[in-house]
Amino acid sequence: MTSFSTRMLEWYDRNARDLPWRVAPADSIAGVRANPYHVWLSEVMLQQTTVAAVKSYFATFVSKWPDVFAMSRASEDDIMSAWAGLGYYSRARNLKKCADLIVSEHGGQFPQTRSELIKLPGIGDYTASAIAAIGFGEAAPVVDGNIERVFARHGANSCSGPSLKQAAREFMQLTTPVERPGDFAQSLMDLGATICTPRNPACALCPVSGDCASRTAGTVLDYPVKVAKKPKPLRRGAAFVARRNDGAVWLVRRPPKGLLGGMASFPTTEWSVSKDGDTGSQAAPCPAEWHHAGTVRHTFTHFHLELEVWTALAKPEGEGWWSAGTEMDGAGLPTLMRNAWMLCSQN
Ligand code: ADE
Repeated sequence: MTSFSTRMLEWYDRNARDLPWRVAPADSIAGVRANPYHVWLSEVMLQQTTVAAVKSYFATFVSKWPDVFAMSRASEDDIMSAWAGLGYYSRARNLKKCADLIVSEHGGQFPQTRSELIKLPGIGDYTASAIAAIGFGEAAPVVDGNIERVFARHGANSCSGPSLKQAAREFMQLTTPVERPGDFAQSLMDLGATICTPRNPACALCPVSGDCASRTAGTVLDYPVKVAKKPKPLRRGAAFVARRNDGAVWLVRRPPKGLLGGMASFPTTEWSVSKDGDTGSQAAPCPAEWHHAGTVRHTFTHFHLELEVWTALAKPEGEGWWSAGTEMDGAGLPTLMRNAWMLCSQN
């Protein structure tokens, strides 16, 4: 049997997904490297988000800001607005910080090694390895969720959580080839996304099923072993959609730190604290005849939120701006606030 990496690369040459940030296998073999700016942007977007969801955001970003200089010239607010809907907004703030630093400290060139990349804002272990391997050909060990699953099944490895990640990392350190390390990592990502899927793995089509320990044992679906998740607490809060006679809607920018930090929003009560927020119309930013438009439910990393949505003709004061009701789609609202707006615009 040929080596694990050879089988994976041969499979990748025939089956690689065509993705906008990716260099096709034939070009990669011919020595073409992916644009590090594209690799960085796509890898940051793909953390916590699916390929399908990322594609249109990636296209928008590279057309608005074709390189790291353009992104560095952009305002943080514009980047946050373009990111709206992707979630985990600290990623967008770090994108801007990182672009600024690459321009100011590195002359606009990405550092080429994993150990230098990991020093940059928003670039952790995974992203540093992915950029080094895919953008610069370093045999860095790339481990994402898909790769962990393929590894756990292939070796019938019963670790879970951080120890599974560590074991997968050691495996990748040993198996990542010096030729085409980026394609090798991406072959495992694609295998995990299309063949070695969480629920219905298509083992008959898998290039490494011949020595897959869990397949031999008939226990593929037992891996990766799951860690029991802590139940998430429920928090409550309220959002206030103040409208003007001409249909304009009052928006504020959330403080830079904390949940949805730096994002456009309706005024809300606190719900970032562990106690239940104040959810009645008495918590509104100004007196008015507030009507209850409904409840929006949303799950954050550490809690579920029930947001009571109130709306009224009202004149809030303080920092904020009126946004035309017809332009709310482009207002850069995060998904939670878009859902709150849907309740109000339907009524
Ligand atoms: N998920 C995260 N990064 C990816 C990549 N480069 N290719 C495919 N899926 C991915």
